[in-house]
Amino acid sequence: MPTSSLPFETAAKGGARPPLKIAKRLIKRTVTDLFEKTGLVVISKKTRDRIVQMSPEAAGMLWVPTRPAGPGRALPDEVARALDPANPALADLKRRYADHPATDHVQWDDGDIEYGVDMASFRGDNLYVFQTRRNSEMQYYLSTIYVAACDQLDAFVKLSEDGAFGAAVYEFDGRSGVSRDLLDSVLEMNFLERQIGLSEQTGLTVLDIGAGYGRLAHRMVETFPTINRYYCADAVATSTYLCDFYLKYRGVQNKAQSVPLDRLERTLKGETIDLAINIHSFSECKRSVIRWWLDQIAERRVRWLMIVPNTGDALTSAEPDGTRQDFRRDIEARGYRLKAMRPKYEFSTSMQKFALYPGTYFLFERAD
Ligand SMILES: C[S@@+](CC[C@H](N)C(=O)[O-])C[C@H]1O[C@@H](n2cnc3c(N)ncnc32)[C@H](O)[C@@H]1O
Repeated sequence: MPTSSLPFETAAKGGARPPLKIAKRLIKRTVTDLFEKTGLVVISKKTRDRIVQMSPEAAGMLWVPTRPAGPGRALPDEVARALDPANPALADLKRRYADHPATDHVQWDDGDIEYGVDMASFRGDNLYVFQTRRNSEMQYYLSTIYVAACDQLDAFVKLSEDGAFGAAVYEFDGRSGVSRDLLDSVLEMNFLERQIGLSEQTGLTVLDIGAGYGRLAHRMVETFPTINRYYCADAVATSTYLCDFYLKYRGVQNKAQSVPLDRLERTLKGETIDLAINIHSFSECKRSVIRWWLDQIAERRVRWLMIVPNTGDALTSAEPDGTRQDFRRDIEARGYRLKAMRPKYEFSTSMQKFALYPGTYFLFERAD
């Protein structure tokens, strides 16, 4: 008698295989074929996390969740109420921002914020400042060595970090309170000091566009007594709101203030702005929106403009169809010329390769 050739029966030892085992094999084969054809590979969460830990630069090639960490330590009731996304003051700001030309967002719409920012831990790893994602403690250590060695302002020694509102904080060789907020701010301030000698100027006024929760504002007014006023502007109501909260929380509101978008023109009327700053923000905006902000800068004849894109050394916008457009010519068309373009880790090509979130610093100056 010929043996049966039905798929669910085999001549393997022990006779017929259980259907579940065969189904599993079929699924495994189909999925393997699919991966071969598509070039995709699925690995376990544990393996993925080990890869990221050992080689953080590989994280960009993996699918790593980007949801923010939840609230860190418990907040006092009053603070928790202020940081409740349902806060009526925030709702009012959102309503006022709705039809403004600068709020034509590609990123940073309500859905992005709901998914990417936990207000109670707004200084945690989130859309404002990436911290633990794609970076290891080792990269923090490298950046710390670099910052400590190159900080001409002594800001790294003078400024502190308490990890409030979820900021990721490290300790190296007895130096506690190392965060990306602090490291990046110190590097940006040193760049400005080298380029325009901020500590030598007098009565400076700064306009920070896309100022986030006020990271650099807080650090700048604590470092440079030469700054008279530091205005934080943003086209995202949640950012304006958090920035106002944070600057007051840090007690620097006498110099640094978060200006609602619909009151910006009124607030800046008659002011001479010396320096405009845009960090990791224009790269997340449409070119039409960037042009709107550049018009504000040019109309006020702001002397210096510092830009840090999050697109390497390209000054490009983010368009709804996924393309990017060069906006450097928009800056130049408004009467600015490039004064400096430097790697973030200017004095070490190896740090620029291996340390925390490398980037490029641009400084433009009005030509006349
Ligand atoms: C990645 S965060 C950077 C925050 C801050 N500059 C820093 O370095 O800590 C990007 C910022 O750009 C702001 N932003 C997004 N769209 C904007 C727009 N159309 N105009 C101005 N700012 C915008 C966001 O609200 C957020 O504050």
